[in-house]
Amino acid sequence: MTDKIRISNRVSQIPKSAIHEMTRLSKKVDDVAFLSWAKPTSGTPDHIGEGAIAAIKNGLVGGYSENAGIVGLREAIVKKLRRDNNIEADISQILVTVGAIEGLSAAIMAIIDPGDEVLLFTPTYSTHIRQVVIASGIPVLVPTIEEKGFALDFDTIRKAITSKTKALICCSPNNPTGTVFSEKELRELASLALQHNLMIITDEAYEYFTFDGCKHFSIGSMPKMKEHVISCYTFTKTYAMTGWRIGYLHADESLIPQITKAHIPFAICAPVVSQYAALAALEGPQDCVSEFRSHYLAARNLMCERLDDLDSIFAYQRPSGSYLMFPKILLEEGKDSMVFCKSLLKNGKVSTTPGIAFGPSGESHLRLSFCVSFDEINKAFDRIKALFA
Ligand SMILES: Cc1ncc(COP(=O)(O)O)c(C=O)c1O
Repeated sequence: MTDKIRISNRVSQIPKSAIHEMTRLSKKVDDVAFLSWAKPTSGTPDHIGEGAIAAIKNGLVGGYSENAGIVGLREAIVKKLRRDNNIEADISQILVTVGAIEGLSAAIMAIIDPGDEVLLFTPTYSTHIRQVVIASGIPVLVPTIEEKGFALDFDTIRKAITSKTKALICCSPNNPTGTVFSEKELRELASLALQHNLMIITDEAYEYFTFDGCKHFSIGSMPKMKEHVISCYTFTKTYAMTGWRIGYLHADESLIPQITKAHIPFAICAPVVSQYAALAALEGPQDCVSEFRSHYLAARNLMCERLDDLDSIFAYQRPSGSYLMFPKILLEEGKDSMVFCKSLLKNGKVSTTPGIAFGPSGESHLRLSFCVSFDEINKAFDRIKALFA
């Protein structure tokens, strides 16, 4: 008899994903009202698919590209960063990645040694926590201030910094809270990083989806942060390209070859057909982006109205970005968010995500996605109202 192979500690310590668990359970429920996924429900605009088809027809996609991505795409990204992020870049500072996720993973792998501490501001996107764990780093969860719209808490952040702190991950607009950190907060975070010689890794997946005059600010636009920030972006949200798996990161040219060493063993290069689709996205009309934003804004307003009507059940901070929000459950039975979500699914046929999936400070909350149709939002809230009100 052979001994059973032991799974690495690195992987086995990672808990089962609550998001995937809820998705699995939701699939068993007929006619479910689905507010669980942070995934655009619109299709990829046609001209983007046509860019990919043309590349296939022209025989451009059968091989690997340069590890860093095709030159034309990196040039288009440089233009986009200048136009929209106020970042003056060069193609030597761009790495095209398999979505933002692989860019974040490669960045974290390149920066974090076993035992290094990484600050994450909670509630936080759970994948960031897992990426740190896979790199054998130690996630240090620093709660934000919910009553101030999940703002950064600089006193707590300062106290969390130790001699082992190597980096911090900053996601704005935020998943799961929808918070857009202000330029002032992000500049203060940058100063703190410089003072303590920390790397900032940003996740700017929702950069185009901000509301109420809130502006997205990229720390990568600050010249003094040149060697202290790796900025991760994606086509997934901006152009509804979830399945194409295409994103990119920007970092100092001295860092890119090192991050590329972490990128190659996982990806070699980003899918070439998707790189051509991404090029079509950047070079084509941008109306789809403002259309998506307008829809998310109207959907956010509708969701907030429906929540206002249930103020004895939920208290919420109005999200100023992304297409997610994170209401607190006021009911006694909401203390355990996983139990609450499962019961909402079973008894109300509404699928949500338990707040505990986003760190301990997310307990007693739900994450709700408003990247769905108005009908889906109304269906979900009619059912919640019928169940509790
Ligand atoms: C904050 C955040 N970053 C990254 C991703 C995934 O991005 P990509 O599809 O580009 O890997 C998501 C998806 O939900 C997200 O919410």
